[in-house]
Amino acid sequence: MIWLSLLTLSCLLITGITADLKDENLTTPQLIEKYGYPAEIHTVDTEDGYILQMHRIPYSSKSPKADNKSVVFLQHGLFASSADWIILGPGVSLGYLLADAGYDVWMGNARGNTYSRNHLTLSTSSVKFWDFRIVVGGLEWLGVGELFASNAFTTWVMDLACKDGSITQGMCMNAMFAFIGYDPVEVNKTMLPVILAHTPAGASTKSVLHYAQEISTIPHGFYQWNYYVTNFVHYGSFYPPEYDLKSIGTPITLMYCDNDPLGDPTDVFELSGVLPNVKEVYEVALKTCNHQDFLWAKDVKFLVNDKVMRTLRANK
Ligand SMILES: *[C@@H]1O[C@H](CO)[C@@H](O)[C@H](O)[C@H]1NC(C)=O
Ligand SMILES: *[C@@H]1O[C@H](CO)[C@@H](O)[C@H](O)[C@H]1NC(C)=O
Ligand SMILES: *[C@@H]1O[C@H](CO)[C@@H](O)[C@H](O)[C@H]1NC(C)=O
Repeated sequence: MIWLSLLTLSCLLITGITADLKDENLTTPQLIEKYGYPAEIHTVDTEDGYILQMHRIPYSSKSPKADNKSVVFLQHGLFASSADWIILGPGVSLGYLLADAGYDVWMGNARGNTYSRNHLTLSTSSVKFWDFRIVVGGLEWLGVGELFASNAFTTWVMDLACKDGSITQGMCMNAMFAFIGYDPVEVNKTMLPVILAHTPAGASTKSVLHYAQEISTIPHGFYQWNYYVTNFVHYGSFYPPEYDLKSIGTPITLMYCDNDPLGDPTDVFELSGVLPNVKEVYEVALKTCNHQDFLWAKDVKFLVNDKVMRTLRANK
């Protein structure tokens, strides 16, 4: 992970009384503390000047402090944040289960999301901030650098539109299913306002366009940013360089859901054929399981997290 080349790592303690605030309003570390776990904030400066926030649960009441714990690093996906690993609370969400089982849990936040919006020299109102690693051209023609940031306004709207008793709660769910696959049974409607106050957590338009490029590129593959007519200037070739999946020697377990349009089973099988060290390709045991069920399903512990824990235990 090149962008995580750590130049400095500093640590802050979280303060403030948070017990009387609603979960919608709390940050990831504040939520962790509210539910009785220790939380730490660490900042990481990248080579190109971004200041990223990492959140850590170093131990738990079920597994006291020790300096020999194994580290688990959890990295969220597009539009998400560290909150996704803890949002359903202790006993359910993966971050807490891992801390209880004795792991030292670190959760990353991608550049541009709610927690990683600082840069040594650039401000988030500058298009350059959102134009990661670029010399010429890029996002100016779009006029925007950021998509779907979560803020006080979106939190208020989500709360109003999605809470229990709201006549628009059904619309709220349908908007969600349009993106992630239809699986109403696994949605805990009471949790919707909290979930939607934390997600989407913002991302750079460029990251989204890069996904779109990967989908539309033939032949399939993971390529660096496509500058089209100016590729030659940037890369010395007409096509962007491909990331070499064959060089990923790490043992990998892939999990997929049958009803996930964003992580389609066909693509998962294709990927497992290319990665050199895949240990297992695991189908989540629910036919309607969709993209969000990995994080927010009512039965996420049974469907996903228990399997993650078993896999980690077996590969200690
Ligand atoms: C870690 O250290 C504790 C004592 O501090 C010890 O009881 C435990 O067995 C150690 N665990 C491992 C995995 O080495
Ligand atoms: C918490 O969020 C709700 C909306 O979810 C808002 O109405 C309220 O004012 C917020 N409270 C604080 C203290 O920010
Ligand atoms: C749904 O969320 C609420 C609020 O966190 C919780 O009390 C309840 O147990 C959850 N229901 C299920 C079925 O997980």
